Amino acid sequence: MEFKETMKKRRAINFFDSEKPVDKETLKGIVETAALTPSGFNFQPWGLVVVRSQEEKAKLRELAWNQPKVSEAPVVLVVLGDKTSWREGHKDFERAWKDMVDKGLMKENARGMVAGGSEKLHQGTERSLAFAVKNAGMFAMSLMLAAKDAGLDTHPMEGFDHAGVLGYLGLDPERYFIPMLIAVGHFKGEKELGPAKYRKSYDELVLEER
Ligand SMILES: Cc1cc2nc3c(=O)[nH]c(=O)nc-3n(C[C@H](O)[C@H](O)[C@H](O)COP(=O)(O)O)c2cc1C
Repeated sequence: MEFKETMKKRRAINFFDSEKPVDKETLKGIVETAALTPSGFNFQPWGLVVVRSQEEKAKLRELAWNQPKVSEAPVVLVVLGDKTSWREGHKDFERAWKDMVDKGLMKENARGMVAGGSEKLHQGTERSLAFAVKNAGMFAMSLMLAAKDAGLDTHPMEGFDHAGVLGYLGLDPERYFIPMLIAVGHFKGEKELGPAKYRKSYDELVLEER
């Protein structure tokens, strides 16, 4: 699909066909495409919990304001942002660093500068949360576009009990933030997709041109 068409056709759809599954290979392809998303320092501080089990989706639905799409979509992705990937010693930090050194993009002796810069940018409750949210949010957008490109529909959701979902999944709140859940599946044919919502114009978006 052409890029602009993919952008236009992606819609938050409320009605999923529960009878049409999303196979593992298709989902894997979508996730691998979304993995091309850029991130600060290339730390890629994101991850997913893939929920397919009806029982688990029902539980998640209870925690997500009882939104029907959570149990009706064949797959729900819990998008995770890791608030700690920026720290020296974290596997994401170390892997990105090694990759840069191996590829000759950084010299070993620049490590202190990179670690120091990362700490300065990301240390502290607010900054580490911003780090997780901005990066994992972009990953989430890529997931939705990759899904559309693969012929699937999605629905992002922030309407859920954050602490409840983390607790249910047994994830450390000190480490993870969930920017959104994404329901993935096929639009239920007999339902009507409402009109596309308005978008801000260029003039509304640009505060000033200097
Ligand atoms: C981060 C995020 C969270 C959202 N959370 C919810 C939600 O919990 N429930 C819901 O019905 N819609 C939710 N939406 C859907 C938006 O309302 C929808 O994307 C927006 O109105 C634009 O419509 P469109 O996606 O069809 O273009 C969310 C969208 C985003 C991007």
